[in-house]
Order: sequence, then C-alpha cells, then structure tokens
Amino acid sequence: MSGTRSAMSSTCLRMPRAEAGMGGELDEWRARLAAMAMPDDGADGAHDATHVARVWRAAASLLAEHPEADPLIVLAACHLHDIVNLPKQHPDRARASRMAAERARRLLADAGFPADKLDGVAHAIEAHSFSAGIAPRTIEACIVQDADRLDALGAVGLARLYYTAGRMGSALAHPADPLARDRPLDDRAYALDHIEAKLATLPATMRTAAGARLAEKRLDWLRAFRDTFVDEWGRGD
Ligand SMILES: [Fe+2]
Repeated sequence: MSGTRSAMSSTCLRMPRAEAGMGGELDEWRARLAAMAMPDDGADGAHDATHVARVWRAAASLLAEHPEADPLIVLAACHLHDIVNLPKQHPDRARASRMAAERARRLLADAGFPADKLDGVAHAIEAHSFSAGIAPRTIEACIVQDADRLDALGAVGLARLYYTAGRMGSALAHPADPLARDRPLDDRAYALDHIEAKLATLPATMRTAAGARLAEKRLDWLRAFRDTFVDEWGRGD
C-alpha cells in the first residue's frame, strides 16, 4: 500500500489528509474512468453504468465524513470494481473481484494513473466483494465496500433483487409460506427470501458509521416492503 494510507484492522480510523487540490484531478479522471468502466456482461441491468454511478455517489457521501481517505483511489475503485462481473452461479464467482483488481491495475497503469495509488485501488476492488471474503485494510476499501453494499438495499436494491431473480428463474416468493415460518430460507428458489437470507445481514458488515446508518434505514424500508408484500400475497393461513 501507499505509505500515506493507514493500515486497517476491523474498523476505519480517521487520520488527517495532506493532499490538496484534488478537485481538478478527480474531474479529469472521472470521465476517463467512466469510459473504462463497462463490465464484461454489459447486458446485466443490476451491474450497469448506473450501478457504478450510484456506488460512486454513495462513496462520495461517505468521503465527506472521512477526509483522511484518498478520493482518487475511491473514485477509481468505484468505477472499476465490477469490471469483471461473473453470474452468481459461475464457478469462478468468488475470484471475480481479484480478476477485476488485476484488470483494473493493468488498465490504470496503461492510462498513466498515479503509480503510487495502484495498490490502493487494487485492494479496494478485491475487498469489495461479499463472496471473495477479503477484509478491507484501508479506509478507501472500507468506503468502496460500504458504497457497493448500500446499492443492494433500499428501493434500488429491491429493484436489483427482483431483476436478478428474474434472470436466475427464481419465483417471487414461496406460494404458501412467504415468511419462511416452517421452512429454511431459500433465496435461490424464492426472491423474497433474499431480504432475510442476505440483505438483512449487510448493516452489521458496514465499515463506516455513515454507511451503517444508511444501511439500517434502507433495510427498514425493505422490511416494510416485505410486510406489505406478504399482506397482499397471503401468509398461507
Ligand atoms: Fe457492484
């Protein structure tokens, strides 16, 4: 990692940030990164350019509470984090973020990105993925991971959930027991189960305080949706 980046353990600490005048450099790189950012599967509407734009917008809001973080590393990692996007069932799914980090490192080096920030970008990309199981060691990696997870929650997260479920051939919900009272959760078979099986676990994994607050708020919204859905669907009783 760059010498100015703080080593992280389980939390993200605040440190003074020395760099100044990042606005112009950020603006210049933002357009270039957006052009590089298209993932392998350009037809996946849950991981398209709008997802990348939302992740960066969320990350920018988290950066406001972490002036110690390097915004250029966060900007690059947000734009390139899904540049290798493998389907959930793909055998190399758990390796996708490492593959994305390697590809991003090559692309950025070829584009003249600051060499001393390449390690930071690559780590933030490889650590963002839930399935990779890599703990973020830098504040930039914490911010990118939180920002990506926030896009799985709330109204947009719900839309992405059902979009992905449709692509995988899952049912909307269990026909007789949508709340999984008398069966194990199965989010491969029933899209509604994904809220409790996976999304409800995300707030506890957030690395920044602002990310955790937003994640809880968006999970509350998802659970309110789930209640309304089940009222309309029928509870099987
Ligand atoms: Fe993502």
